[in-house]
Amino acid sequence: MANNEDKFKKVISHAKEYGYVFQSSEIYDGLSAVYDYAQNGAELKKNIRDYWWKAMVQMNDNIVGIDAAIFMHPTTWKASGHVDAFNDPLIDNKDSKKRYRADVLIEDYCAKIENKIEKEVKKAAKRFGDAFNKEEFLTTNGRVLDYQEKINSILSKMGKSLEVEDLEAVKALIEELGIVCPISGTKNWTDVKQFNLMFGTKLGASVDSAMDLYLRPETAQGIFVNFLNVQKTGRMKIPFGIAQTGKAFRNEIVARQFIFRMREFEQMEMQFFIKPGSQGEWFKHWKEARMKWHLSLGMGADNYRFHDHEKLAHYADAATDIEFRFPFGFKELEGIHSRTDFDLKQHEEHSGKKLQYFDHEENVNYTPYVLETSIGLDRMFLAVFSNALQEEVLENNTTRTVLKLPAVLAPTKAAILPLVRKDEALVKLSKDIIEDLKWEFNVAYDEKDAVGRRYRRQDANGTPFCITVDGESLDNNTVTIRHRDTMEQQRVKIEDLKTIIKKEVDVKEWLMKM
Ligand code: GAP
Repeated sequence: MANNEDKFKKVISHAKEYGYVFQSSEIYDGLSAVYDYAQNGAELKKNIRDYWWKAMVQMNDNIVGIDAAIFMHPTTWKASGHVDAFNDPLIDNKDSKKRYRADVLIEDYCAKIENKIEKEVKKAAKRFGDAFNKEEFLTTNGRVLDYQEKINSILSKMGKSLEVEDLEAVKALIEELGIVCPISGTKNWTDVKQFNLMFGTKLGASVDSAMDLYLRPETAQGIFVNFLNVQKTGRMKIPFGIAQTGKAFRNEIVARQFIFRMREFEQMEMQFFIKPGSQGEWFKHWKEARMKWHLSLGMGADNYRFHDHEKLAHYADAATDIEFRFPFGFKELEGIHSRTDFDLKQHEEHSGKKLQYFDHEENVNYTPYVLETSIGLDRMFLAVFSNALQEEVLENNTTRTVLKLPAVLAPTKAAILPLVRKDEALVKLSKDIIEDLKWEFNVAYDEKDAVGRRYRRQDANGTPFCITVDGESLDNNTVTIRHRDTMEQQRVKIEDLKTIIKKEVDVKEWLMKM
């Protein structure tokens, strides 16, 4: 596909055209950074959630799952630090009247330098052919090293300023780099100000007694406040984990890039409670385990990288992001954070309740440390969907649009197509096959248009298999099964369909690759 911007536009329009993602309240001209998942999108999202849940909860006998409420006692957010510190540094352009996150303006500036590095790599790869060694090139080429040093120095300067909340220095950096507003093209900036990202609401009917609440900005706190309840009722022994998936809300200012940054989104988080002092070992463990989970989906090792944080949040002693190559470049997909005992201690202090663990083997009480893995479900959806969308030039020089979703995640596993829709016997047999398969898989029936067009439609829809029922099927109980990615067709017995499909879509087959 053409350039990255075109590819991203195509991703957004394809998501709408094929019933994956719609703008929220579209008939009222939409609501910015809020999206609805349509008939196929809801299935894909559910399959991603299940894939995560199976890997994290079902496959680990020391991890359990919960489903905490979105509303929490307001003191939760005081204790967690969100009331005082969950802010974004904002800056306005006086000419366009547009508001930006100051750190994102600076990061976008760095991303442009990174693009220059990628261009140098491409040029060199072309020049040196098979002899090209990317690692060596990145660590020895003078121009690339200069670019990289520039990026490092800018990000470190920004990190230091943000850490000490020196907002004047952040503005000075934007001015020093000559960053212009993408709309007005001018450098006419206001000062940088902090803005809290939590949405407020009220609980209770009367104005006097109503209690100020927040919509949770992360699911993690629902786990921390339930730590002791789960540990006691589940008789959990450290190390153990509590996982959950659910909605979170943030009043994001830079709300663009489709479902990458939303105001209402879903997280899949796991807090792993460990003995203090073992966090280094568990940080390494979860870094590797989470990367393996991603790689099991076969979306290409080249599309992932770790980004270790230099600037750590006040509660963390180590943190890394798993970044994915989205159509707009490498960006955070998942965070892995070593959060120490910060959260539990804060909740102990604010609630006055002990949140400690009694270690029977060592006969000691302690506040556990926590290793967190946190991934945005919508962001994972975008990674899967954008990576899957491809345009292929075929041998006869026509192109086909194909959504090569990992089969385990595809919303519809197979489409059943009677070759001729007016042939009642073919239609009946097709529907009989559906009746049988639908107990195990999501399947669809498609009888409209020539079979070639139906194949294309299912390719674009991401359906891994098309099963065509023809005259021969009536004679010998066989059908053709066409594979989406290779377009290969095989004649198989109807009774074998379940086994053939299962082998390709079964969660076990995919997770075993971990
Ligand atoms: N409990 C830790 C936590 O919430 P975070 O880095 O703020 O950490 C974790 O968020 C993940 O949630 C991110 O890596 C991202 O995938 C997802 N996420 C965060 N903000 C988001 C947003 N506005 N829209 C979509 N996904 C978001």
